[in-house]
Amino acid sequence: MPPLLERLGVELPVVQAGMGGGLSRHELAAAVSEAGGLGTIAVSGATAIRRELAAARALTGRPLAVNLLLPFARGDWFEAAAGADVVVTFWGRPRRRTAGVWLHQCGSVEEARRARAAGADGVIVQGIEAGGHVRGTTPALELLEQARAALPSGYPLLLAGGIAEPGDVRAALEAGATAAVAGTRFLLSEESRAHALYKERLLAAEETLLTDLFGAGWPAPHRVIPNAATDRSLGRRSSFVGNTPIKDERRVVLRAPSANRALNRLLAPGARITPPSLQARMMRAQRPGSRLLTPAGPTDDGPLSLVEAGALYAGETVARIDAVRPAGDLVRELAG
Ligand SMILES: Cc1cc2nc3c(=O)[nH]c(=O)nc-3n(C[C@H](O)[C@H](O)[C@H](O)COP(=O)(O)O)c2cc1C
Repeated sequence: MPPLLERLGVELPVVQAGMGGGLSRHELAAAVSEAGGLGTIAVSGATAIRRELAAARALTGRPLAVNLLLPFARGDWFEAAAGADVVVTFWGRPRRRTAGVWLHQCGSVEEARRARAAGADGVIVQGIEAGGHVRGTTPALELLEQARAALPSGYPLLLAGGIAEPGDVRAALEAGATAAVAGTRFLLSEESRAHALYKERLLAAEETLLTDLFGAGWPAPHRVIPNAATDRSLGRRSSFVGNTPIKDERRVVLRAPSANRALNRLLAPGARITPPSLQARMMRAQRPGSRLLTPAGPTDDGPLSLVEAGALYAGETVARIDAVRPAGDLVRELAG
């Protein structure tokens, strides 16, 4: 058992990635932790973090993580997240803002080095195949190898991207990962709060796109499956950049129309202070052809319109997943 997992009391080397906008709440995180993995809550606002953590604690006595996105998280979110056993941060300058165990998800060796220097207890290396917002620019196993070479031996490195089956977890552990982190696989669990139609689309999906289209307030690349919004704004995916054929177009960022991008850049500095009521209005008003496309994904208690107008986040593993399963079964199966 790797020392980090032992210290936390996590029995199996399987971590459920935080999936923001309320896709991973207490039901999913508790089911994963109760099965012996590490479940992660990802919601916005100190009140919601406290509420979800308390609800998860009522379901399991095992360790739980809270995920915070650095472009949005305010001081009081960190205070609320301190009630978790682990805080996982993503996207931004890594800096210790919690006294407890802190992991930072990184897309490069340089970022991993910076996180370690800032006092992170471990890093999650994210590969380009990952779903949701994608910081990685190389396949996860490659980045893991580079990070292992660059960081002191024994420093905990977790791997995210490409994990959907027991063989993926084995490969990550054999390559030196402390644990494997899966998002998309757990999105397709009974406990995830993804809208039923979003889950249906995911089960049918064969391909993903990397784009910056759903960038209102957060102009960063993300991996999604196609829907009406991507069809409208990105058109038929081009297999050429200029005259150069793209060998693997899943790994090229398909840019939003320039008017969308200009608006996204303009709004980004205000994202942290946009009131939740305005964010909810923007989300409800969103249509496939809107110039402003927020990063919100379709949840089971959000507007149905987001199935066509919102971001259907998914990693490349989506093509290999064909059933919605109970999260606890997934943890036990993934861990072999
Ligand atoms: C639906 C979805 C939402 C995500 N939201 C977040 C998030 O809020 N915070 C975060 O740190 N990572 C987020 N991610 C990225 C994950 O942390 C992780 O890197 C990714 O899920 C790994 O790739 P996989 O989905 O192929 O397993 C999200 C991923 C997905 C699929």
